[in-house]
Amino acid sequence: MPPVTGSQYLIETTGLGKVYHRGTEEVVALRNVNLSVLPGEFAVMIGPSGSGKSTLLHLLGGIDRPTSGEMCVTGVDLVAASDAALTRFRRDNIGFVFQFYNLLPSLNALDNVILPLLAKGMSWKASRVRGVAMLEQVGLGHRQKHTPGQLSGGEQQRVAIARALVLEPRFILADEPTGDLDSASANSIIALLVDLNQRQGITFIVATHNLDLLKVASHSYELVDGLLNTANSG
Ligand SMILES: Nc1ncnc2c1ncn2[C@@H]1O[C@H](COP(=O)(O)OP(=O)(O)OP(=O)(O)O)[C@@H](O)[C@H]1O
Ligand SMILES: [Mg+2]
Repeated sequence: MPPVTGSQYLIETTGLGKVYHRGTEEVVALRNVNLSVLPGEFAVMIGPSGSGKSTLLHLLGGIDRPTSGEMCVTGVDLVAASDAALTRFRRDNIGFVFQFYNLLPSLNALDNVILPLLAKGMSWKASRVRGVAMLEQVGLGHRQKHTPGQLSGGEQQRVAIARALVLEPRFILADEPTGDLDSASANSIIALLVDLNQRQGITFIVATHNLDLLKVASHSYELVDGLLNTANSG
């Protein structure tokens, strides 16, 4: 999979489209999406339910494939990539954060965070050191041994963010990261994301219904019926 040379963009899509087939029915989830994201941006996408936000994040993260258009992410042509290349791409480049955290309920916070490191072959000892540092970074150094059921929603989301960061991804895709939180917890998660963006230069692409995120965005977009419009450029 040859890297595409010369582009300064982390993400570049041209005319991206996604059509789902459900029996004989066609659902057009994305139409002609042109999106360019530079390293260090904090891009926020809003839009009504069903407008295509999750679909777009799934394409950008190599979880799903477009049905039309071009896309190049971290220099990788994701349309041409083989399934194996797509799996490697996901592992090496992307951190995901979801509305419902997606933590393993039987593992404690630290074990949830270090799972991707162990899966990648890092020793248990080295993984632990890095995992503890990640938990400290999200303000949860004192909750290593707690299982998800023993943590608040905001704390669980912090664990999920630590897990997303642990492999040093090029960017983080977050789908409704504050969607299941009360407003105080949501605000503290937003502050954490902004801090990671500003102090560490981590690029974020966030899909949300939470308009507070627009206030901290460097670039904002609105998806309406699969069409992406710029909401404001920073
Ligand atoms: N696997 C699928 N098969 C068929 N249709 C799908 C599939 N996934 C999503 N869709 C449809 O694609 C459209 C976009 O869905 P998507 O989940 O991207 O919306 P969304 O903006 O994330 O909505 P929400 O704000 O509710 O999360 C919807 O009409 C949805 O029903
Ligand atoms: Mg969604």
